[in-house]
Amino acid sequence: MKPVVVYGASGYTGRLICEYLREFTIPFVAAGRDKARLQEAMDHVPGIDTVEYDIVEVAHEVGPLTELFDSASVVCNTVGPFAQYGPEVVEACLASGTHYLDTTGEQDWLITCDEQYGPRMAERGLLLSPGIAQMYTIGEIAADICLETPGLDTLDIAVFWKGYPTVASTLTILVNAALSSAYYLEQNKYVEWPADTGVYELVVPGQHELGLALPWGGTSHPVWFRRDPRVANVKVLGGVVDRPLMQGVPQIVAAVVEQVKDLPLEEKYRVLAEQAAGVRSEMPPRENPRVNTSLDSVHASGPLGRAHCVIYGNCNYKQTGLLQAYAANALLQTPPKRAGFASACQAFGHRELLGVLRGFGLVSEPVLTVHR
Ligand SMILES: NC(=O)c1ccc[n+]([C@@H]2O[C@H](COP(=O)([O-])OP(=O)(O)OC[C@H]3O[C@@H](n4cnc5c(N)ncnc54)[C@H](OP(=O)(O)O)[C@@H]3O)[C@@H](O)[C@H]2O)c1
Repeated sequence: MKPVVVYGASGYTGRLICEYLREFTIPFVAAGRDKARLQEAMDHVPGIDTVEYDIVEVAHEVGPLTELFDSASVVCNTVGPFAQYGPEVVEACLASGTHYLDTTGEQDWLITCDEQYGPRMAERGLLLSPGIAQMYTIGEIAADICLETPGLDTLDIAVFWKGYPTVASTLTILVNAALSSAYYLEQNKYVEWPADTGVYELVVPGQHELGLALPWGGTSHPVWFRRDPRVANVKVLGGVVDRPLMQGVPQIVAAVVEQVKDLPLEEKYRVLAEQAAGVRSEMPPRENPRVNTSLDSVHASGPLGRAHCVIYGNCNYKQTGLLQAYAANALLQTPPKRAGFASACQAFGHRELLGVLRGFGLVSEPVLTVHR
C-alpha cells in the first residue's frame, strides 16, 4: 500500500513531484493513462531506486480512479486543464475518502472547487486544495507576509516567471482564455476584468525595464482571499519575462478565441488542443536556476499603512514539485489546518511553506518593507 498517488506522473510536473516525494522518503503510486510513458518518466527520476513506488495505468473515469485511490491517503493531481479533467478526480477522492491536491492556476476551476466540492469535502474532513504550485502559492506566501502587519486590506500582486510552458500548461492557458472569465476582487466581490485592455506595463522590483503583464485568467488569489476577513480587494497581473512574447499573447489568444467561439464544447476542446500543440508539443528541458527564475511581488495597503514583499525564486516547476510533496508529507502526519476548500497557506501555513522552499534553495529570503 502506497499512501500517495501522483496522477499524471508521466508529465513534467508529475515527475518532479515524484522526485521530491523520494526526498521525503514517501512511497507512492505513479499513475496515468499510459504505462510505458509512466515507466519512462520514472526511469528519469534521479535516485528512484531508493524509494518504493508502483506504476498503475488507469482510465480517466470516476470508478477506476476511486478503486486506485482507495488504499491511499493523498492524491496529487497534475492532469490539466483542471476545469476539463478535474471533476472525475475530485469525485473519486470523495468516493474513496482521499485528500485532493492539484497544480492548477485556473481561476474558474478554483471557483468550482470552492462552491461545488468544498462543502462536500469538508463534511468528510478531507482537504480540497487546488493550486498548490508556484503560480500562485509563492504570491500567496508574499501576501501573507505583508498581512502579518495588521490593518492592510488591499493586495496588488505581480507574478513573473522566465521559462517555457509545458504542453499541458500551454493548453491550459488557451482553454482558460477561451472558456472562462477573469475576475479580480473588489470589496469581497468578484468583478470581471474588462476585455481587450491589452498588455499592462508594470514596474517590476529589481529591474529598470518595465515588465509586461496580463490578468492571466484572474489567478487564484481573488478566490483564496474572498472570505479572508483581513482582505477586501485583490488584483493580480502576471506574465512571462519575455517582452516580444507578452506583446504577442493577446493576439494569439484573441485569434484562438475567435476560432472556437461558435463551436460546441467538445469541438472547442479539440480545436484548442490542436492550437496548443501548434504552440508547444514537446516537453521543455529540465530547468536551469540561472535561466528559469520567478518573481512574486505584493503591495499591500490599507487606510494608514503599506507593506511590500518580494520573493525571488528559481525553477518554477521544481517549486511546484516540492510544494506538492511537502503538502502530501504534512497530510500523512497531521490533519490540515483547514478541511474542505483551502489554499496551501490556509492548509499548511505560509511560514512553513516558505521554510521548506528556502530549505531546498528555491526561493530567496523575502524582501519586506513596511510603512505605518
Ligand atoms: N500553477 C502552476 O504554477 C503550475 C505549475 C506546473 C503545472 N501546472 C499545471 O499542471 C498541469 C500539468 O502540467 P505539466 O507541466 O505536468 O504538463 P505535461 O508535462 O504536459 O503533463 C500532463 C500530464 O497529464 C496527462 N494527461 C493529459 N491529458 C490527459 C487525459 N486526457 N487523461 C489522462 N491523463 C492526461 C499526461 O499524460 P501523458 O504523458 O500520457 O500524455 C501527463 O501525465 C497543467 O494544467 C499546468 O498548467 C501549473
